[in-house]
Amino acid sequence: MKFLEGKLDDIAAGREAPLSRRDLTDILESGPGIDGPLFRAASAVLGRNSGPGVYLRGIIEISNACQKNCFYCGLRRDNPGVARYRMNSREVMEALTHGWNAGLRSFLLQSGERLGGDFIEEVCAILAECRSRWGDSVRMVLSLGELPADVLDRLREAGGSRYLLRIETSDRGLYDRVHPCDGIHDWSARDACLRHLRATGWQTGSGVLIGFPWQTASVLAGDLEYLVDLDIDMCGMGPWIEHKDTPLDKVREQAPPRARRVSLTLRMIALLRILMPDINISATTALQTLDEEGLEKGLEAGGNVFMPNLTPPGYRADYNLYEGKTAVADDLESMITEGRKRCESVRRLLVLGDPGDPLHYGRRLATEGWMSGGAAPGDAIGGRG
Ligand code: 5AD
Ligand code: SF4
Repeated sequence: MKFLEGKLDDIAAGREAPLSRRDLTDILESGPGIDGPLFRAASAVLGRNSGPGVYLRGIIEISNACQKNCFYCGLRRDNPGVARYRMNSREVMEALTHGWNAGLRSFLLQSGERLGGDFIEEVCAILAECRSRWGDSVRMVLSLGELPADVLDRLREAGGSRYLLRIETSDRGLYDRVHPCDGIHDWSARDACLRHLRATGWQTGSGVLIGFPWQTASVLAGDLEYLVDLDIDMCGMGPWIEHKDTPLDKVREQAPPRARRVSLTLRMIALLRILMPDINISATTALQTLDEEGLEKGLEAGGNVFMPNLTPPGYRADYNLYEGKTAVADDLESMITEGRKRCESVRRLLVLGDPGDPLHYGRRLATEGWMSGGAAPGDAIGGRG
């Protein structure tokens, strides 16, 4: 314990102190005494790299239809209790415009995984419309599941800048326990999809679920190493939350208690911040759902992104990944006012009018030589976070 505290104090002071897999595991398993030194180290690293800014990403949940059947998710294909919807382009553009007028410059279009029909064409048309209206001043972020490489390439061509795809867990054994074994839930395919995104110029985001039944601290430490190895630009990690209409709910008593899931999530955020100082890390909605002060705590642990929900209220209740999904307020203006207050309560600054590109992305483009051929819209180095 003293040894780990010493290392964390070194990190806080800006001295080199690499954390081994054993250290990561021990920190995740430590008693509450480790939290002070851990969060101080993470805040110091964040302050030296990205500064106090908290960037906004407006989420629009454009469809809740999904071809997958993840054992933990309320939107799984075999849950008949979900009223499936798909927003039309006009509704999506209205939500985006509302966000734009309020100063948001980064928007996440999220859906379950759906192939076929004209869904992708419609998303491409929305991206093209955003590009023609707002040019390079916004970042369009997509989280539409695991899509074939050519589809991802089309979305990028149409104006997508960032893609979020959680690996959910880096441990293949655990992955196979929380997903059906049916050919479309394949860890290697998901990993390959992430590597394709990263190699084709997307700002690439991933993350894991924390507090699954059967998940050990050593598996979580492996998750951190996986995210470092993938060299992601953005991360969203949140606690697993029960949903009564899912198979995983049957083993809910095998998961750590909720408070432990919150504490593990905060420690994972802090450790990832130390390991990857210049990426964007969000304080997720799931964290805010399990803890009323989840936003503040997530920021103090090293997070720098807050995601207000722009989905029209009529659809919101149908995007039920887990029970009790919450928001800091109902309408965007109140979410921004409330978000700003909460950021300031932990001495952070809510930033409007800036897409908040992760510094990591600009740096890796420069090292990989992408910039020499001229940057595509959405690739600009600038902004922070
Ligand atoms: N609890 C918390 N997060 C969940 N997700 C899906 N189901 C749950 C749940 N029960 C997360 C997954 C997915 C993201 C869209 O939502 O990590 O990638
Ligand atoms: Fe579909 Fe994503 Fe839910 Fe899995 S987690 S069922 S892919 S919406």
